[in-house]
Amino acid sequence: MKRTMTWTTAFLASCTLLLAACGGGNTDTSNTGTNTATNTSTTSISGPIPIGIAFAQTSNVALLGQEGVAGAKIAEKYFNDQGGINGKKIKLIFQDAGGDEAGAINAFQTLINKDKVVGIIGPTLSQQAFSAAPIAERAKTPVIGASTTAKGVPEIGDYIARVSASVSVVAPNSVKAALKQNPNIKKVAVFYAQNDAFNKSETEIFQKTVKDQGLELVTVQKFQTTDTDFQAQATNALNLKPDLIIISGLAADGGNLVRQLRELGYKGTIIGGNGLNSSNVLSVCKALCDGVMIAQAYSPEHPGEINAAFRKAYVEQYKKEPPQFSAQAFTAVQVYVEALKALDQKTKINTLPIDKLRTELNKQILAGKYKTPLGEISFTPEGEIVQKDFYVAQIKMEKDGNNGKFAFLK
Ligand code: ALA
Repeated sequence: MKRTMTWTTAFLASCTLLLAACGGGNTDTSNTGTNTATNTSTTSISGPIPIGIAFAQTSNVALLGQEGVAGAKIAEKYFNDQGGINGKKIKLIFQDAGGDEAGAINAFQTLINKDKVVGIIGPTLSQQAFSAAPIAERAKTPVIGASTTAKGVPEIGDYIARVSASVSVVAPNSVKAALKQNPNIKKVAVFYAQNDAFNKSETEIFQKTVKDQGLELVTVQKFQTTDTDFQAQATNALNLKPDLIIISGLAADGGNLVRQLRELGYKGTIIGGNGLNSSNVLSVCKALCDGVMIAQAYSPEHPGEINAAFRKAYVEQYKKEPPQFSAQAFTAVQVYVEALKALDQKTKINTLPIDKLRTELNKQILAGKYKTPLGEISFTPEGEIVQKDFYVAQIKMEKDGNNGKFAFLK
């Protein structure tokens, strides 16, 4: 969040709105009630309190988005069972943001103008946030990112915050863990998806960390998140005999790249970035995922009552430990619930017109401290999460390659 929009951001936001209003790309706004993002209702809420969820439920990005959906649904039941907002229930409204900017823009417009949510959680990708979040900013509707980790997301505007810690604090942990496990690592090859904002942001941090640790960056190879064949880049890198390969990609492309590197005979350490932080990667690289190291902003073993409740509910339903993106989505719902409760104690929220409620809620979100499954968190004035605990996990696959888990390193 920031005080004034820069000229560039304002210009891009206007272009985005114009594109959406003109039906550019796949931004069908016919079902959104009104297309004017700033024309919000002045009526108050009568039924359950609507919170918008704009994660990817279709496309390759759904490999990450579905984990967000799972965490949000667990939170909805948990907090409603606990009494909701001082007796009033919350209702999550899901709009599929798909895997691209147009899908996220459409989901945001529908949630703001038609569903009249008090705030939004999402979208899944930072790449989508840079297009869709300015729409919420213009409509003065709070947004909490729960998987967006690129540099600059909270700075999109005053109404944009996140509970997904930035690449700059998360990514270096995996490089340090790899060096701890193998102090002989010297030569490093870095791969990144060049068509994605988060991956471009994350690779900068990885490359800086490599240099800061005194390692030799032997090559930087680029690919697209839509690629499936990595033979050329993998061969180029392997010819330079790296001891460590670091990948910034998303789940499907990243998983395929891991698989092809191993098939080509690479035996050294592999680090995956935040876009590979999903058990959905396991079905892509199967047995060859074994050993991949990934930094984590959540541990299922984090102490505390709320994480115990979240973990129990997740394990009962999915028969495995909760992943980071589910924990972050749960946390984002929790932040809304606790901020709404605090606001309701000052002024009954069903007496406030929705536009006033959104503005007051945004202030309350930033002012609060929250005991969440991620630990105790708060926000900087810009809306960046302040979080203490980070971890690194290593993928352990069973021999058959069908099952595996993220084993947390000590
Ligand atoms: N962390 C990834 C992003 O920000 C999913 O796009």
